[in-house]
Amino acid sequence: MRLHGKEEITYMSTVKSPLQRRINAFSSRVSKIKEQDLYFYLQRIDAIDGARVTIDGESRVMFSSYSYLGLVNHPRIIEAASKATCELGTGTHGVRILAGTTRLHVDLEKRIADFMNTEDSIVFSSGFLANVATISSFLGRGDAVISDRLAHASLIDGCRLSGAEFLWFEHNDLDDLERILKDAEDKYRGKLVIVDAVYSMDGDIAPVPELIEICRKYGAWLLVDEAHSLGVLGKTGHGIQEHFGIPRGEIDILTCSLSKTIPSIGGFVAGRQDFISFLRHTARGFVFSAALSPGAVAAAKEAFDVIEEEQWRISRLRENIAMFTSGLRALGYNIMNTESSVIPIIIGDEETTLKLTMLLHKDGIFICPILPPAVPRNTCRLRANVLASHTEEDINYALDCLKRAGIELGIIEPKGSRGQAV
Ligand SMILES: Cc1ncc(COP(=O)(O)O)c(C=O)c1O
Repeated sequence: MRLHGKEEITYMSTVKSPLQRRINAFSSRVSKIKEQDLYFYLQRIDAIDGARVTIDGESRVMFSSYSYLGLVNHPRIIEAASKATCELGTGTHGVRILAGTTRLHVDLEKRIADFMNTEDSIVFSSGFLANVATISSFLGRGDAVISDRLAHASLIDGCRLSGAEFLWFEHNDLDDLERILKDAEDKYRGKLVIVDAVYSMDGDIAPVPELIEICRKYGAWLLVDEAHSLGVLGKTGHGIQEHFGIPRGEIDILTCSLSKTIPSIGGFVAGRQDFISFLRHTARGFVFSAALSPGAVAAAKEAFDVIEEEQWRISRLRENIAMFTSGLRALGYNIMNTESSVIPIIIGDEETTLKLTMLLHKDGIFICPILPPAVPRNTCRLRANVLASHTEEDINYALDCLKRAGIELGIIEPKGSRGQAV
């Protein structure tokens, strides 16, 4: 067999190896899906134009993007990245604590602290790393970390790596959290509660004001991940604190990705100055990992300015979310309790979910199927991300395609239509 035009190599370690058997089992699962023409991952994109991408020479409307405010190819942000690259180069000298930290990194951390209304912030080379490094360096044996059941994988991995007792409560269930904290009261030294502001698979929002109250009562710290809420929640897109009107300093730790609404790469943690300083000197994912490139840093900083200056993007996103969700509900789709850009379209079984994805792809809609283990069995879904860069025409077109395909596969009833011609 030839791979990327090269002859396949026979590695001696693969002969009769249990590790190889694991790979074989996985490969045969993937091959079966590919044979049925139902493999939708790792699609090759050749061009990006707003909410459209080109795949196999065809333009598709993008419903799998995290660029919620449509900043992914914003000219000002591209210019900032190019300028920084020309001035400081494509890389850095290595880890910031030893090899120096550029003025751009310092400026970005100040800008983030200002945007998030915190004392300070620290930038990591991904949102995933920000969560893993923060939780695992802050907590240890004798502590307890209590996570929402649906918290993001990076938060869960941080909890596992920390060595602290890992407990979880039912999704958004305050009574369950209180029960666990009461039980944990005298058993552990430090306690940290972990939630996503907006849940990445269900699109619903954590009840943060009540979480703050419960954490206070039981002496626990609260960490909130803003990956899907920054730029989306709050009147001016400042996230969960603005959404609920939470005063400064009430949430102990805010974490976020710089590759969703912010069209760059990296992640950050924002909070008290002493805590951020603690991370700068102890978080292994910071101390032992190289700095972000100047281009990525400058792009991220410019994006925070653009969000504040181009507020129309936030209203536009809200209008698009309202239009898409009301259309889907009118068609008879189950979209759970989403209140954000993340719209779960629950289908149920894996086969129907993959077939629906295929029909939509044929119609020029780029949307992702979400299957177990990412979501529980029988809650397979399409996850549609609504963007500020979608036009009214894009949303109407997607709804019409979902109507046609949904009826064809028996997911929705013909009568559950929006009263429009199919
Ligand atoms: C809630 C949440 N946190 C963290 C991350 C990781 O962010 P990054 O892609 O920057 O590593 C993601 C990524 O999808 C996410 O959904």
